[in-house]
Amino acid sequence: MATSNGNKKNLNLPRVHCFICNQCGYQMEDGEKNHVEGKNFGLILKKICQHRFPKGHVLVYQTSCLGFCKEGISSVIYPQQIINTSLRGGQESQMADLIAQLLQSMD
Ligand code: FES
Repeated sequence: MATSNGNKKNLNLPRVHCFICNQCGYQMEDGEKNHVEGKNFGLILKKICQHRFPKGHVLVYQTSCLGFCKEGISSVIYPQQIINTSLRGGQESQMADLIAQLLQSMD
């Protein structure tokens, strides 16, 4: 097997990986847990990133519990290891803005 860690700038590797918990819910006013929102958040963020960033620069993954379940939808962004724990549906664009800032800071 041939491996190389030569000039990484020439490789088209993803630069940001964003994991969104698709099991997250939060207590709604009627006392029920909203478990759909985490899954929708991930799908919407993925579409925004596909349109906004160069192909392959940002990967959005849906994942199971990240261990931060209390407040809302949870996410982790790598390689910066940024954890967000209180996301709500409708904040997908804000998350994309954060990813844009991170990409800029990596240039
Ligand atoms: S269920 Fe989403 S972080 Fe635990």
